[in-house]
Amino acid sequence: MVHSIGLPAESKDGERRVALDPSAVASAVGQGYEVWVQRGAGVRAGFNDEDYQLVGAKIVPDASDAWSADLVVKVKEPQPSEWGFFRKGLVLFCYLHLAAEPKLTRALVDAGVEAYAFETLSYPEGLPLLAPMSEVAGRTAAIVGAHYLAAGSGTLLGGAAGVLPARVVVVGLGVAGTMAARGARGMDAEVVGVDVNLHRLYQAHQEGIVTATLASSENAIGEAVRSADLLIGAALVPGAKAPKLVTKEHIASMRPGSVVVDIAIDQGGCIETARPTSHSDPIYEELGVIHYCVTNIPGQYPRTSSRALSAAVAPRLLDLARDRSSERLRGALNVSGGKIVYDAVAQALGSQF
Ligand SMILES: NC(=O)c1ccc[n+]([C@@H]2O[C@H](COP(=O)([O-])OP(=O)(O)OC[C@H]3O[C@@H](n4cnc5c(N)ncnc54)[C@H](O)[C@@H]3O)[C@@H](O)[C@H]2O)c1
Repeated sequence: MVHSIGLPAESKDGERRVALDPSAVASAVGQGYEVWVQRGAGVRAGFNDEDYQLVGAKIVPDASDAWSADLVVKVKEPQPSEWGFFRKGLVLFCYLHLAAEPKLTRALVDAGVEAYAFETLSYPEGLPLLAPMSEVAGRTAAIVGAHYLAAGSGTLLGGAAGVLPARVVVVGLGVAGTMAARGARGMDAEVVGVDVNLHRLYQAHQEGIVTATLASSENAIGEAVRSADLLIGAALVPGAKAPKLVTKEHIASMRPGSVVVDIAIDQGGCIETARPTSHSDPIYEELGVIHYCVTNIPGQYPRTSSRALSAAVAPRLLDLARDRSSERLRGALNVSGGKIVYDAVAQALGSQF
């Protein structure tokens, strides 16, 4: 039985979001739950302790107090400094991305945590707890890509009279990819969308979100990437490690100073040369190409992101507190009773477990 819900402050580098805004906390309190908010948890997203107190939350001084609740809800996967709070029967609800996190998975399995992931919850359809953050990450990818192109090849996305616009290639036209394409189109770039889903390509073209489309294959991606100024990776197979669609050779063929943004890096990345970076050290150069691979991109727009995430999470949080077998939590459970129970994660981590 869940009586208390803990809301710890985020501890990942540059992470300024909070999982619940005061209105979501008000709903939980209204349903009879105690909500323990770690002091300052919402401050970087624009929500003060008093805002939470006013709706009935209890402000607790330390992370350990928030983590001692029956159910803990947070944004990012727990960092190693938080693994000591794991215990048998703790119900955890947050982004986990376990296919790319074998050590975290081991810690959850060994401690007997009941771990529910935002990113694999599939009720009523799609991935509704991933979508709001994919939306933000996609829009941001276009902004940071355009920004680093200035320092790199010196190319302006929209071009100028007598000068061709830049070419942006987006691999994976789901929620994040579509928003990235829209952002780049909004800056008047030429945008090529790549996906395995031909219907999605048709739709995006009809809607003017991309200027051209390409069915996904290694050859086709190689050709498109060679002439790209900005490459955005956003392909996802739910729960699984991201498919490596862009090879090192493809990246080596790009013009020096071009830019890569791999949004899918939280699932391991869909670009071979991508490795995770952080807000405090967001880029590196490899093969003459600037790589931006921050694993928590929406953390840089904490107010918008926290509100969007909280609105999506709050109803499912109440379902989880009330009845863990609810159909409305379909697909969310990743680790239970000391085992991985989500197929794609089990396959990705395989023999290690
Ligand atoms: N870095 C961050 O901060 C951040 C934030 C939010 C989301 N994400 C990540 O962004 C990624 C995309 O999320 P989404 O919500 O847009 O997913 P989505 O399911 O909406 O879209 C994924 C798209 O990838 C396509 N795809 C799958 N296999 C492909 C292939 N072989 N070739 C081309 N396309 C392929 C699918 O058809 C789909 O259109 C995920 O890995 C997600 O975790 C990262």
